[in-house]
Amino acid sequence: MALDLTADQKDLGRANAATVMEELSRRGFMKSLAAGAGGGAVVTAASYFGYTGFGDKPVRAALIGAGDEGGILVGEHNPDFLKFVAIADIRPSNQKRIIDGDPKVPLRKGFKKVYGQHEASKIKITDNYEELLKDPSIEAVVIALPLHLHAPVAIKAMEAGKHVLCEKLMAWNVGQCKKMIEVAKKTNRILSIGHQRHYSMLYAHASEVLKSGILGDIRHIRAQWHRNNTWPFEWDATKDGALAKNVIQPVYRDGWFNPITQADYDVLNNPKKLKEYGYESVEELIRWRLYNATGGGLMAELGSHQLDACSIFLGKVHPLAVTGVGTKSFYGKGRNDRDSDDHVFVTFEFPGNNYYQKDDNGKVVLRDGKQLLKDKDDVVVVTYSSISTNQFEPYGECVTGSRGTMVVESETNLMLYNEKSPTGKGGAPRATTVAVTGAEKGKPALEASSTWGPAAAAPSSATAVAGPAGTTGAPVSRGYREEMEDFAYCIRNWGKDGYANNLRLPRCHGTVAMADAIIALTANLSMKKRNRIDFDEKWFDPIAKEVPDADQKGRFDDQVFKA
Ligand SMILES: NC(=O)c1ccc[n+]([C@@H]2O[C@H](COP(=O)([O-])OP(=O)(O)OC[C@H]3O[C@@H](n4cnc5c(N)ncnc54)[C@H](O)[C@@H]3O)[C@@H](O)[C@H]2O)c1
Repeated sequence: MALDLTADQKDLGRANAATVMEELSRRGFMKSLAAGAGGGAVVTAASYFGYTGFGDKPVRAALIGAGDEGGILVGEHNPDFLKFVAIADIRPSNQKRIIDGDPKVPLRKGFKKVYGQHEASKIKITDNYEELLKDPSIEAVVIALPLHLHAPVAIKAMEAGKHVLCEKLMAWNVGQCKKMIEVAKKTNRILSIGHQRHYSMLYAHASEVLKSGILGDIRHIRAQWHRNNTWPFEWDATKDGALAKNVIQPVYRDGWFNPITQADYDVLNNPKKLKEYGYESVEELIRWRLYNATGGGLMAELGSHQLDACSIFLGKVHPLAVTGVGTKSFYGKGRNDRDSDDHVFVTFEFPGNNYYQKDDNGKVVLRDGKQLLKDKDDVVVVTYSSISTNQFEPYGECVTGSRGTMVVESETNLMLYNEKSPTGKGGAPRATTVAVTGAEKGKPALEASSTWGPAAAAPSSATAVAGPAGTTGAPVSRGYREEMEDFAYCIRNWGKDGYANNLRLPRCHGTVAMADAIIALTANLSMKKRNRIDFDEKWFDPIAKEVPDADQKGRFDDQVFKA
């Protein structure tokens, strides 16, 4: 994520983050660590996010879409909270893999490993998800389908009385998101969307460090997810089955341009059935991310997560404007061709703390429904790129402040560095180790007096002991498990009419997730139209009819808007 970091410097960055967090906690600035506990004692995710277990009655759930992500969710869920009793999927190889697991991807454990052989054999398997919606014993569904199916299936599920956890991006266009929120309220069902960073302790820690103000003045965040999908495609037919002859197969190894086996093709290649399932071809079903009608490109798949993180860092504010350039400059005819761009570069302007006038409670002051401006120059720029031809830098977010830099790398490492100090001798020394100094105007600050030389060894205590997530080298939960636990907790506490009683919703409920969808989909529009686009606050209001993409008609709009 940061070009110039060696392994030692990364160790140091993690140790710095641990030191700073423990100090902030001791001074009462971090609730995600046990204040004053020292030695790295941490608050559990459950108590931080505010949920508990509930004895021996887990929520009975069905999984709709048992592909790559469905496999991760099954591998990560906690059956004490959410117990899958059925799955719906139309692809024979995925129906099998969700039960057996995937030896190539350990996170995709499969039901046999999670529940044991006997329990796994009791799971109902169907290709028709509507059958599962009719089963009154199923309380909730987890939807991990291609993007264009999120809204129609989530709406049908809620209308059938099921609570819904639907994967991100929330929906294919913003009108669909608004409809999903409306139906959730109308049917009194919980709607949660799978942006798992809302349930990651690492991001919770990172946000609290930023909130403490310790990085000084933050004017720029750089986020990126760079991948290299240019290596030649290889396939072992003796192990993985013969490739289908009637479809174009990949030239490059590329998770979005999956190979299609003859076995899957023979079962799926039924035009009538495909149409019912929502597709025009087998290719579109298996490689849905490549097509505009079924996917949302790099911004929907990768960028949405990271812009979610950046907006969490900035206090979940809505951006002011976006400008983007997207190209399909690597793939082409006969070379893993697609509708979607393979390189995207996007610049967002976000409001800083003093952009809007705020009252004593930090609420933006409105006049005639408009947000009053205080300082229009107070903007924070977030730059985002996702490319397909180089992965030198690991994916992540880099927050640059006037007194320090925070790097969140691959959802697993949290690192902190001091800014260069002008007080050192010999020209621009750079601080490597950090300390929190006494409160400056009641706020903590990073000490900037240490020097930049050969990388200092990371203090062994900080890397060896349990401590803040992302700083110890220990495995970090990316939030999937907690997201499903919290969903189940909300369901168990929902009662008769949770909306009327203003009960607790999941952290990433419809309105929160719609903002992430607006950010990603408006960036797509900016790239498509080659325009700078100003965000309109009404887009973020689920009740207002205004949307940024009224001219983008989804394949299932008729069904969705009939609801
Ligand atoms: N939160 C995350 O970090 C994360 C990561 C990856 C994917 N996702 C999201 O998860 C969703 C699924 O992605 P994926 O990578 O698993 O895709 P995938 O293609 O591997 O899986 C989709 C599955 O849905 C099945 N399916 C498609 N149409 C169906 C229908 N009409 N009825 C029943 N089954 C159907 C397919 O057969 C396939 O098994 C997407 O929305 C994606 O954006 C989220």
